[in-house]
Parts: sequence; structure tokens; C-alpha cells
Amino acid sequence: MRRRVIAGNWKMHMTCSQARDYMSAFLPLVADAPDDRDIVLAPPFTAISTVADIAAGSRVQLSSQNVHWQENGAFTAEISAEMLLEHKVKYTIVGHSEPRKYFSESDEQINHRARTAQGHGLIPIVCVGETDEQRERGEAERVIRRQIEQGLEGLDANKLVVAYEPIWAIGTGKTCESPEANRICGLIRSWVGATDLVIQYGGSVKPGNIDELMSMSDIDGVLVGGASLKPDGFARIANYQEA
Ligand code: PGA
Repeated sequence: MRRRVIAGNWKMHMTCSQARDYMSAFLPLVADAPDDRDIVLAPPFTAISTVADIAAGSRVQLSSQNVHWQENGAFTAEISAEMLLEHKVKYTIVGHSEPRKYFSESDEQINHRARTAQGHGLIPIVCVGETDEQRERGEAERVIRRQIEQGLEGLDANKLVVAYEPIWAIGTGKTCESPEANRICGLIRSWVGATDLVIQYGGSVKPGNIDELMSMSDIDGVLVGGASLKPDGFARIANYQEA
């Protein structure tokens, strides 16, 4: 069975002291989670070291919210793979719709980030997904296929995660219906053609819909924004039981 990856992306939330409080509530709640899954948190850069220290020896793995494609250099506001590895970071989110939208990140840049991540042994979580307008115009599949082809070029698809995140479902409370999310994840799997590819769904995942989402045949995990900010809610998600 493909590994399950349940990831919480804190985005621009959580000071170090808030992260400490979160971890002391969260860790006991996930201590007995089944072994079939990675439980991952992606804190802001300032809290990575704090979370890494507290999470050491626990069920929680670390992700970053970005990684640059150069080893080091004059790249203000960026972060290198080496800096992340020092804190035992295992995953890195690239191609999230927010940097795509606010900082005009291209599929080519996303691909560079993901390649460098893999080159250092980090597992990229490559996010793809269509806007509302693209879906209404019937372009969703074409857009996602382009993001997959360009974003994954030259990557080892057995060592990465694809997160299907329809943009209209992110932070809106509008979850994509499970069968439709599963259909798109299945298409992604057939386009990529790698047996061990882990595919997540993301977009308004919450305690109330996790069990159904995780019972879908092509959904191997979830990428959670808002609902990962509450330790009890995210623990419920991490402890999902297939419906
Ligand atoms: P959301 O965010 O769970 O708040 O919809 C998902 C994401 O941005 O990955």
C-alpha cells in the first residue's frame, strides 16, 4: 500500500510560543496514530527549529513551505535545502497556489525547486490545481496536466508527493466532492505512471470530511491549511479512520 501522508500547512501563522503550546497539546493526541501514515507539519521558517526540537522522537515529521533551487547566494527571502536539512526537515511544499498567485511562480521555477529538493533527499510536495474560472470553462484537466508535465519534468515520481488542490476549494469551506477529487487524482496517477506516487487532496479538508476523503482509492493523503491550526482538529484528521 502507498504511504499515507497527512500534512498541515500553517502558512503565515504561529509564533514560536504558539507553536510550543500547539505541540504540547498535539503530540499526545497523535502518539498512537497507525504506522501507515506520515504526520507532517509545515511551520513558518521562524518556528521550524522550535517544532523540530519538540517533535524529535515523536510521530511528527517536518515540512518547509518553500525551498530555493540554488545552494546559497544572494536570494533575499529564500531558503536553501541545506538550511532545512539541518532541522531534519523531510518534506517541502512547492507550487502552492498562493505563491503561484501572489508571486507569479511559474511551473519552471516550481520544477527547479522540486529538483533541488530531491537532489538533497527532501520529498517535494508539488501542488497543482485549477481556478474556478478554469473549471467552469472546462479547462481543469488541461491546466492540471500542464502543471504536472512541467512541474514534474526530470523528477523521480516515486520520491515525491503531488497535492491536488482545486484553488476554489482552498480556504473557502467549499470542499471538492470526494468522487470528483478522486477522479482527478486518478487522472494524475495515470499521467505520471509511477506506482509509488503519493497523491494528496487539499482544499477545505476538516475533521468532518477526512474519513470519506481517505476512503477514496486514489487519495493517499491530505494537505490541510486552516484546519491544521487547531491541535485537536488536526489530530482528528491525522487519526482518520477510513469510512
Ligand atoms: P485550506 O488550505 O485547508 O485552508 O483550504 C489548503 C491549502 O492551502 O493547502
